Amino acid sequence: MLHSALINVMVKAARRAGRSLKRDLGEVEHLQVSLKGPGNFVTKADKRAEEMLYDDLSKARPGYGFIGEEGGAREGADKSHTWIVDPLDGTTNFLHGIPHFAISIGLQREGTMIAGLIYNPANDDLYLAERGKGAFLNDQRLRVAGRRQLNECVIACGLPHIGRGDHALSRDEMTELQPRVAGLRRFGAAALDMAYIAAGRFDGYWERNLSPWDIAAGTIIVREAGGIVSGVAGDDDALKTGHVVCGNEYVHAELVKILKPLGK
Ligand code: IPD
Ligand code: CA
Ligand code: CA
Repeated sequence: MLHSALINVMVKAARRAGRSLKRDLGEVEHLQVSLKGPGNFVTKADKRAEEMLYDDLSKARPGYGFIGEEGGAREGADKSHTWIVDPLDGTTNFLHGIPHFAISIGLQREGTMIAGLIYNPANDDLYLAERGKGAFLNDQRLRVAGRRQLNECVIACGLPHIGRGDHALSRDEMTELQPRVAGLRRFGAAALDMAYIAAGRFDGYWERNLSPWDIAAGTIIVREAGGIVSGVAGDDDALKTGHVVCGNEYVHAELVKILKPLGK
């Protein structure tokens, strides 16, 4: 399938960094049993992937700004364009040798997401979208699921854990959602959760306290697959609030109706 020059740049960079992470995953699997464990090794793998992505993307589009989870914000001469990158989303999965993690690359032009790519090197699933040109998984066109009744829906979410998130609020959310849905899922990689919405695998997804690099690429991919992405208020910007709710228009509205009163 022919893609634009911009998408080709993103795919090339993601595949090169992906080869590095795939090699590292093999190493991590052996490190599970070592006393020190893979912690430091994964941090190095994460940082190495980000530097590879920065090198490739800044060579191809000199002057664009770059915001990466590991290296922070790097200003560019071109103030209109910014890469928003998570070189390894699903770090805890990766650390445990669970092959569900992704490279996430979003491109923002004057505050609007115009392209996104989410790539899982472990299974070679490559999700991408460019504004106005549709969303794709390995060149197959994507559409969000069509289910409208929550009682038929499988909904993905994030779950707080030690040192992370509002545990009481999460319990309130579970109390409201559990009796209403066909299933809940917590897969551990926010970017892939949003990619699965675009692919119609999950019917809805919500999570609070995320960072822009978790959400940026998924936002354009879900929207180009016909889905809605917002914050918990339903008409706000998840990239600004850090809280995301997404799905088709019916499921998105149902989730907002339940989640908004619990806390913004
Ligand atoms: C994390 C994953 C996880 C989400 C966390 C994120 P990281 O990203 O996306 O699913 O629940 O809030 O921080 O740290 O693995 O890049
Ligand atoms: Ca992340
Ligand atoms: Ca990360």
